[in-house]
Amino acid sequence: MRIGLLGFGVVGRGVYDLTASREDMTVAKVVCLEDVSLPDAEVTKNFQDVLKDDSIDTVIEAMGGLHPAYEFVKASIEAGKNIVTSNKALVATFYDELIPLAKEKGVCFRCTAAVGGGIGWLSELERARRMQTIEKVGGIMNGTCNYILDSMTRLGLGYDEALKQAQALGYAEANPTTDVEGIDTWHKVILSSNVAFGISLDTNTVPVAGISKITAADVENFTAHGLVCKLISTGKCAEGKVSAYVQPTLVKLGEPESAVPANFNLITLVGSASGRMSFYGQGAGRYPTAYNVVQDCADVLAGRGFYSPYGAKVAAENTDSMRYYVSGATDAWLEENAAERWNNAIITKPVTVEAMHAWRKENADAFIAAFAE
Ligand SMILES: NC(=O)c1ccc[n+]([C@@H]2O[C@H](COP(=O)([O-])OP(=O)(O)OC[C@H]3O[C@@H](n4cnc5c(N)ncnc54)[C@H](OP(=O)(O)O)[C@@H]3O)[C@@H](O)[C@H]2O)c1
Repeated sequence: MRIGLLGFGVVGRGVYDLTASREDMTVAKVVCLEDVSLPDAEVTKNFQDVLKDDSIDTVIEAMGGLHPAYEFVKASIEAGKNIVTSNKALVATFYDELIPLAKEKGVCFRCTAAVGGGIGWLSELERARRMQTIEKVGGIMNGTCNYILDSMTRLGLGYDEALKQAQALGYAEANPTTDVEGIDTWHKVILSSNVAFGISLDTNTVPVAGISKITAADVENFTAHGLVCKLISTGKCAEGKVSAYVQPTLVKLGEPESAVPANFNLITLVGSASGRMSFYGQGAGRYPTAYNVVQDCADVLAGRGFYSPYGAKVAAENTDSMRYYVSGATDAWLEENAAERWNNAIITKPVTVEAMHAWRKENADAFIAAFAE
């Protein structure tokens, strides 16, 4: 396999290092905007140098972002090159364009590192669904949020302090919005649901609530009731109906999710034969993530290209009802649905996910957390 590597940042450099000693794959060209020289690969700033090189059969996209990643990946598929990418935003957004195009052109497309970094979650999910119906996927998919929530719970830090610590340790970006508002987790659960249920989820129908409004007083309330707050994603499929959402969730002490420390992930599937299976590990980092990119290349060499039979566009129907903890805002609708109060916060009667997220959209200062089912 001769590889054109797009992007030479955290993941790209890791891929270069992990492939260096392999005989079955060679990074032939690296597209990098900085001036870098590499002993074994040609470095170029121009993507066309990779696209036009017929000796390159596989493109690894490790740039991130939607553009120009989308244009580069699409052009590479059209030129008959296999694709391996770690870019969850790209794949979740353009799933129903890129996957069918790859099929039509007869090239492989893999993106294991896009969800769970070093955990081989998507490729295990692919194996799991060969044998059974997948009923549920999701869990803790973002290390930054888990680090912040864990520091607030165990060390009693405020949100700002916990975020600063995560930034100092390199777990959070200078602009943490994508992580703390749940967007990263949202991309990951959309992609996981697509693979698990053989569909293409309509992304507009998947609501997301993040953790940026949580306060130390909220965490004190949870601790007093034996609960731990985690950012949890859910994708479910039952009798043809799919539901999918991302929200802070209150889990009981003793549940596996409650014990996930620092920046770790815990991602779970429930299958009709296997029951619950969970995957725990480093959701990010240079070598854990590059490990799964290179694993995907090995799968491409073995002819394994796709995660699932590609299915129809499906809208999520989030009609499940659950109780919510709400702080930071109130109004007549919330008061009508209040069942009890914990200090300054309201605990609702069971309300639908759809209704609660619609309310939160109108009340941007509110923090909401669902009680785990
Ligand atoms: N880091 C992780 O642990 C991790 C884990 C799982 C998945 N991922 C995913 O992997 C992807 C890459 O992440 P990363 O952490 O490696 O990001 P990164 O460190 O920012 O690296 C991206 C690299 O791509 C370069 N780049 C951007 N646009 C380019 C272009 N048009 N042509 C050539 N190079 C370009 C950037 O150069 P400049 O800096 O000059 O812009 C940068 O060097 C993202 O989609 C991310 O979500 C990352």
